[in-house]
Amino acid sequence: MSSRHFTRIWDLEKMEIEAIIGQALKWKRVKHRGSEWKGKILALIFEKASTRTRISFETAMMRLGGDSIFLSKQDLQLSRGEPIKDTARVLSRYVDAVVLRTYDQETIDEFARYSDIPVINGLSNQFHPCQVLSDIMTVLEKGGDLYRDKIVWLGDGNNVAHSWIEASAILGFPLVICSPEGFEPSEYLLREANDRFKAQIEIIHDPRQALKGAKIINTDVWISMGQEKETERRRRAFRGFTLDTSLLELAHPNAIVLHCLPAHRGEEITEEVLEGPKSVVWDQAENKMWFHMALLDFLLKEL
Ligand code: CP
Ligand code: NVA
Repeated sequence: MSSRHFTRIWDLEKMEIEAIIGQALKWKRVKHRGSEWKGKILALIFEKASTRTRISFETAMMRLGGDSIFLSKQDLQLSRGEPIKDTARVLSRYVDAVVLRTYDQETIDEFARYSDIPVINGLSNQFHPCQVLSDIMTVLEKGGDLYRDKIVWLGDGNNVAHSWIEASAILGFPLVICSPEGFEPSEYLLREANDRFKAQIEIIHDPRQALKGAKIINTDVWISMGQEKETERRRRAFRGFTLDTSLLELAHPNAIVLHCLPAHRGEEITEEVLEGPKSVVWDQAENKMWFHMALLDFLLKEL
């Protein structure tokens, strides 16, 4: 139980986050492909669909010289009720690190408690920590300044928003979250961010106020995986929250738009904005791979 895990952003120290992002940027610049982790094996266990996280972790491990094994929950005895704690101990004997994508965060936390190898959160209902740190890498790559630029989250107070809150709290930058009433981020997390870090997080409900002068604009789907039954209710509640050109006109002239993808054009973002000059979503998607390489390197070294 001595290894380091990445179940949420607060598992890392500020300096560690900066070092991992720095390494990712460096490796991207030189298009790094090495053999430092030859012979090491990464397992990915996913309860939910994934294009980017799965493939970027698999290619990251390959670019470091290692191998990966992908398993959907259905492939494992987990689907027939084998306890998480047993799965964690068995996997620890076969592979060197594991990425989990789950519904409940508690599944990842319990896996980590019983695992001898690093456990990485590849998205849960509560958090998407890898996404947000690689998004911060993208912000820095584009010349953004976390501490001076107005950073806005527009949309659902969801897993990605929660990881932005953790990033804002631990790195110490201000963050504006603009969600419809009733869809704000977790109050418990906001309290924790305030108590532990005196976080500078503003919660508002007016998209026009949020976008005014914004330099770094993030949005995400209105209906996250697992919320499909709430589709109609959410579509109604999020009316007015579509990131379109009229909202974007209020932003800083050099603003950038991030979206972790997959995007639902015409819901949280228009085609015009997603494909427009301020959108950085393709670089953002690419950066997941470079960030995952640096994260794996960091965690495997800590073993
Ligand atoms: N952004 C992201 O996590 O995408 P996937 O669901 O395709 O992994
Ligand atoms: N909030 C989205 C992110 C997808 C990468 C979801 O959980 O479905």
